[in-house]
Amino acid sequence: MKIRAFPFAAALGAAALLLLASAPHARADDTGDLVARGRYVAEASDCSACHTVKGGRPFAGGLAFRLPFGSIYAPNISPDPIHGIGAYSEAAFSRAVREGVRRDGASLYPAMPFPSYARMSDSDIHALFTYFMKGVQPVASATPAISWPLSMRWPMSLWRAAFAPSVQSAQKDVARPFPDSAIARGAYLVEGPGHCGACHSPRGIALQEKTLSASSSTLFLSGGAPVDGFVPTSLRQDQRTGLASWSEDDIVTFLATGRNRKGEAFGGMTDAISHGTQHLSDADLHAIARYLRFLGPNDPKATAWQYDPAAATSLRQGNATARGAKVYVDHCAACHRTDGAGYAPAFPPLAGNPVVMSDKPDSLVHVVQSGAALPGMARAPSAFVMPAYGQRLSAEQIADVVTFIRGAWGNNASPVDATSVASLQHSAPPPVLSEKPVPLN
Ligand code: HEC
Ligand code: HEC
Ligand code: HEC
Repeated sequence: MKIRAFPFAAALGAAALLLLASAPHARADDTGDLVARGRYVAEASDCSACHTVKGGRPFAGGLAFRLPFGSIYAPNISPDPIHGIGAYSEAAFSRAVREGVRRDGASLYPAMPFPSYARMSDSDIHALFTYFMKGVQPVASATPAISWPLSMRWPMSLWRAAFAPSVQSAQKDVARPFPDSAIARGAYLVEGPGHCGACHSPRGIALQEKTLSASSSTLFLSGGAPVDGFVPTSLRQDQRTGLASWSEDDIVTFLATGRNRKGEAFGGMTDAISHGTQHLSDADLHAIARYLRFLGPNDPKATAWQYDPAAATSLRQGNATARGAKVYVDHCAACHRTDGAGYAPAFPPLAGNPVVMSDKPDSLVHVVQSGAALPGMARAPSAFVMPAYGQRLSAEQIADVVTFIRGAWGNNASPVDATSVASLQHSAPPPVLSEKPVPLN
């Protein structure tokens, strides 16, 4: 009896122990999963690109946005009850993120991309809230105060009423039919949490995005106004100035690593990748790429880029008489080559590159003037640097070399003159979405 009772008792005891242990354990695991999911949603939404400054504590407050009458700041959204959002309920959090209304009822400036976040699902908001409350360290530091007249927030209530979608109408648009579930997922990520349109779509007179979804207009993602002097290009199937010549894998590689055989990220896109898309799963990156490739051109009349060997042939024969050709040979060809093909992914091609053929030459002037640096990413650790030429080349020479790369190799884009180079060099940053880190104590 004893011998049989013993294993029986032991089994009972073990089962009881298991039950005891498993109940709280299961709950801890659920929360852990939710925190991990919420962190992923925060990455897909790029929250840290604005709410964390370089070298600062996570979500302790971030960028300053310069507006014509002063600056606003991306506040501390760590769960500190006084300086952060520790006192927010989930309902208040959802309202701030999706509707642009703060806990005290004041309307937020749309530098916070709530018109896109309105599309986020209840379950993503729930995971996001759990992550901010349980997975982020509280930081007790204050965000700089906003001064008058920007502290007057009633104009933003009018702005919201005119331009921000209701959560209900946004969700209805999310649920529209798509050819398959991957494209539907890509649409959700791009139009919702990814808020790609905040940079890549044109804005109207009140700085509202002219359209918030591909369902309403081909203007969606057809290219935006320069952000800090960098031009967000068309992400639609536009020839020459858009992604018509990028394969699904080209897009995935670019979003995962900031580089591919077609180009290299710079300006605001570097932040969008390092804080955001590089953290996404392969399945989600492919979903985004498939959705982007499903967007028809905004300009269906544009013809495809075709390589023209004339410029490379002249340069190889030692003939550098074309405008800007000499500057190009002396300063650029070592990395970007005489045929404009570069050495991708280290040095991007300039031939057939949408960045180079864009209607707006602002990026080119800025990159040549100030240089550019692509940091290493988790999936592509090497960093690449393009030198700055602002000290070495005059406005005239920059205009010449930019004109050369826009004209050569079949690019056939319009020339740029020294006056517009000088005005771009001195132009003040654009009013909204101009980002400068503020030191927080
Ligand atoms: C493009 C920049 C940007 C991104 C991306 C962004 N925010 Fe914001 N956020 C802001 C700015 C700027 C404000 C302050 C606006 C104001 O003062 O009217 C703000 C305000 C907030 C507030 C209000 C806090 C308070 O009580 O003052 C919350 C909550 C918030 N953001 C959460 C988030 C979350 C969560 C994400 C990611 C899902 C996110 N934000 C992404 C710029 C951004
Ligand atoms: C803060 C502004 C900003 C946001 C947000 C942003 N982008 Fe960009 N993006 C840019 C700029 C500026 C460029 C041009 C510079 C470059 O090519 O890296 C660019 C370029 C790109 C390119 C390369 C185009 C080319 O022809 O070289 C792709 C692809 C892209 N973005 C996809 C996205 C996607 C997808 C999202 C949303 C998940 C997004 N971007 C969000 C600013 C932004
Ligand atoms: C030492 C090598 C090197 C030299 C010399 C160089 N570049 Fe670059 N260039 C780069 C690298 C690396 C990048 C990518 C930088 C990034 O993405 O941050 C780049 C990017 C660019 C881009 C943006 C294209 C894209 O898709 O990212 C343009 C335009 C450009 N260079 C033009 C020029 C011109 C014009 C000159 C000569 C005045 C020049 N470069 C000289 C290395 C070089």
